[in-house]
Amino acid sequence: MLELDSDLWVTESPLRFLGLEVGARMTVVRLPDQKLLLHSPIAATPDLVREVQALGSVAYLVAPNRLHHLFIGEWQRACPDASLHVAPGLDSKRPDLTIDGVLGDTPDAGWQRELDQVFVAGFPFANEVVFFHRKTATLIATDLAFNVGASSPPATRLAFRLARAYGRLTPTLVERLLVRDRAAFRQSLERILDWPFERVVVAHGDVCETGGRDELIRGYAWLPLGEARA
Ligand SMILES: [Fe+2]
Repeated sequence: MLELDSDLWVTESPLRFLGLEVGARMTVVRLPDQKLLLHSPIAATPDLVREVQALGSVAYLVAPNRLHHLFIGEWQRACPDASLHVAPGLDSKRPDLTIDGVLGDTPDAGWQRELDQVFVAGFPFANEVVFFHRKTATLIATDLAFNVGASSPPATRLAFRLARAYGRLTPTLVERLLVRDRAAFRQSLERILDWPFERVVVAHGDVCETGGRDELIRGYAWLPLGEARA
C-alpha cells in the first residue's frame, strides 16, 4: 500500500483488458472512527486483506462503475461487516452480491463529510461515480481518464499512443465513441471540475499528483466545456 496523503492509500495489481496489461488500482480512504472505504477493490489476497485491516476496519466497499466489480465478492467474504455500494446497473448485473446501496449524486451519510461524489451521466457503458476527497484535494476516478505513461509495458504504451491517450490524463477514443449523451456527460464533468482538486487517482496508469484539474480539462478538450473553464 502506498500512502498518498493523510488517510489516503492506493495499491495496484496486474490486470489485462482487451489483451493489454493496464493494471488496476484500488484506493483506500480512512474515515473517522478508523472506518475504511475501499474504492474499486483489487484481488483480496490474504496479504492485502491483512495490510488493509491494519489501517482500520473495512466499513464500505465501493464498486464505482459497471466494469470494476470483479473482486467485490472476495472482499465481502473477507470483511462480512462491510456494506456494499455499487454503480447503477451493477445491481442487475451482479444479482449474486448482497448490495446495500446504489451510488448516485448524493454521498452516503457514512462518508459525506469526507467525500463528495458525482454520477457521470450520459455514459452508460461505465455508469461511473467519481469521488472527491476534500481534505487531500484528490479526485478519485476509475475509468473517467487513463494516465498511461513510461511505467506501462511497451505494447500498452503503443496502443495508448494509437488511441491518442499516451502520457496524459485522458479517456481513449474508445470511451469518446461510447458517450451516448454529450450534454448530460458534459454537465457531470462540469460538476466534477467545480471541485478544487490537485491530485487525480485513476484505476489504470499513474496517479497525477499535481495540476490534475487542468490536466483533466486538457484531456477532455474534445468535449467543449463552459467558457468559464477555458
Ligand atoms: Fe477500468
